[in-house]
Amino acid sequence: MATEWKAEHFKGAHLNVGIIGCGYVGLPLGLRFAEAGHRVIGFDVDKSKVEMLNRGDSYIQHIPAAKIRQYTASKHFSASSEFSRLGEMDAVIICVPTPLDERREPDLSYVRATAEAIAPHMQRGQLIVLESTTYPGTTEELVLPILERSGMKCPITHGPDAENIPTDFFLAFSPEREDPGNKQYGLAQIPKVVGGTNPPSGRAAAALYAQVVSRVVPVSSTRAAEMAKLLENIFRCVNIALVNELKQLGLRMGIDIWEVIDAAATKPFGFMPFYPGPGLGGHCIPVDPYYLSWKAREYDFSTRFIELAGEINTAMPYHVVDSIAEALNSRRKSLNGSRILVLGVAYKKDVDDLRESPSLKIMELLTARGAEVDYNDPYFPQLHKMRHYDYSQKRSKPLDTKTLASFDCVVIATDHTSYDYAAIVESSNLIVDTRNATRRLLRHRERIVLC
Ligand SMILES: NC(=O)c1ccc[n+]([C@@H]2O[C@H](COP(=O)([O-])OP(=O)(O)OC[C@H]3O[C@@H](n4cnc5c(N)ncnc54)[C@H](O)[C@@H]3O)[C@@H](O)[C@H]2O)c1
Repeated sequence: MATEWKAEHFKGAHLNVGIIGCGYVGLPLGLRFAEAGHRVIGFDVDKSKVEMLNRGDSYIQHIPAAKIRQYTASKHFSASSEFSRLGEMDAVIICVPTPLDERREPDLSYVRATAEAIAPHMQRGQLIVLESTTYPGTTEELVLPILERSGMKCPITHGPDAENIPTDFFLAFSPEREDPGNKQYGLAQIPKVVGGTNPPSGRAAAALYAQVVSRVVPVSSTRAAEMAKLLENIFRCVNIALVNELKQLGLRMGIDIWEVIDAAATKPFGFMPFYPGPGLGGHCIPVDPYYLSWKAREYDFSTRFIELAGEINTAMPYHVVDSIAEALNSRRKSLNGSRILVLGVAYKKDVDDLRESPSLKIMELLTARGAEVDYNDPYFPQLHKMRHYDYSQKRSKPLDTKTLASFDCVVIATDHTSYDYAAIVESSNLIVDTRNATRRLLRHRERIVLC
């Protein structure tokens, strides 16, 4: 049973840390706390994940099973579906999904369900942190009232007068900045923004995270922390839309936009390169900005940059399909009846994640226009039924000479590093390259269409 702690308690060693949601965000975070010597339980409603973790197996490509085994063996990490064990935790960190629903509105059902699962087991002095990306106000308006059903209070106050305000438990928001597959910046090197419901909550969360990351950046409130994450993702979304639009203009004007971006990126200040592609993918960038535009409506405010960027980025898979049709047409072929091979279904290179991947949309649009569509992806030997698509019959095609030659068109949708682009171009009849992955190839340029 927990006792009542001060914020400084979270500077201590050997804390019990509960991570709710052992996915792309929660699992690496849990392992990082285990590495720092804390005792971590990863909670998940998915029993198969819990079993795999307790066996020391990994289900995320870039997290080696050996790392999980190391910490399960040392008893620093285990997984559980028993939410009653939340009562044993000093700190509980929520890393559950925050998708959009069918009407493209925030779906906070996972966050709500998690808060409801925590409330009956709350202890005085516990620290609860939400990490899931969401609109400003979620921690205070949704999570806090559910946790306070426990009978304990965590007042919303800010400023110097509230430095030592009494609080029964601590509540904070700290956005995850995980970039799966990024070899340069791991969790420990990425500064962590932290905002508390009140100053003691902010200090408690800052003390906890200071143990596992190189730098903690305190902000004045949970809302500021929630908004900081959205600003980061909207910045990416808007800039990607900008280069996607300029790419289309470049194609019309006969200017290679990738060459232009690389040239502009030599400016040592005031410019940051973003690269065009077949559309936005991943769990964050295509989804998160709409959390803010939805919330903005409550304030009679229209977020025009978000809407415009969304419009441009959403149109990109359609642009790719039109380019494929045009490329086939110039070879006296119609899209209807053509055999098309899509290379890469992951949403970005070298990851085993296909959430919101534009490749899936491109495959759907091609099929709707009468093409026979197959795919190759070294990270996905087969596909399955998803929320929007049913590709359960599809298997990754081999990339041998005979198979490549049997397709009318090969589309480079995701530029995995492991692809041998020279060999692919050598054997293919026609290549539509959405990523400029073939930029260094000199032979058979006439077969390559950039789009
Ligand atoms: N993946 C990323 O790169 C990334 C980066 C930054 C932020 N985020 C944000 O982090 C959050 C989590 O994303 P993710 O990519 O880790 O998702 P994920 O789908 O990989 O993992 C979520 C996990 O939560 C579990 N879960 C769902 N409901 C639960 C519940 N009620 N109780 C316990 N477990 C539950 C699921 O079974 C799953 O294992 C999202 O808000 C996302 O926007 C993700």
